[in-house]
Amino acid sequence: MQSALNSSTVAEMALVCFHKSVIHGTGGFAKMDIAAGTRVIEYVGEKITKAESLRRCESANEYIFSLDDAHDLDGNVPWNPARFLNHSCDPNCEAKPDGGCIWIVARRDIRAGEEITFNYGYDLEDYREHPCRCGAADCAGYIVAEELFEHVRKQHALVG
Ligand SMILES: C[S@@+](CC[C@H](N)C(=O)[O-])C[C@H]1O[C@@H](n2cnc3c(N)ncnc32)[C@H](O)[C@@H]1O
Ligand SMILES: [Zn+2]
Repeated sequence: MQSALNSSTVAEMALVCFHKSVIHGTGGFAKMDIAAGTRVIEYVGEKITKAESLRRCESANEYIFSLDDAHDLDGNVPWNPARFLNHSCDPNCEAKPDGGCIWIVARRDIRAGEEITFNYGYDLEDYREHPCRCGAADCAGYIVAEELFEHVRKQHALVG
């Protein structure tokens, strides 16, 4: 049977609604002002082994988070509304593992109506296939982890 939204997800959904985004497709938006440090929404999904995770990543699953040394979380399930959150190079949230769960936590105060974003933390594999349209003043141009921004910028400065 397909799992229903769990109680913490329902509670946290009080903070986020989902509708069309200028970044891409559907995005999540703050329903009210949210203080820095708040758990905005839980990123729920299917707990899978690392071997199963590798198999799913090979078929380009973009929704997998590492939970611990033995398990990952595949958020590509209908009961995970957080799967709609878009990436930004200047995100207002971050994804934080916490006791076997992943929470999307506010990095700063967020105003009602702002799009909820986090950095997807992608590596450099095929990064050119993931151009970023986050609209941030300092957008890296591609969806990659923050520590890779300089590398990507240098690559593109070289090729003009
Ligand atoms: C996890 S989904 C996010 C939900 C998506 N907006 C939707 O409607 O299905 C990830 C996909 O959204 C798109 N996306 C997310 N953030 C983006 C960004 N900053 N720039 C361009 N595309 C983005 C990419 O196509 C990415 O593969
Ligand atoms: Zn960007």
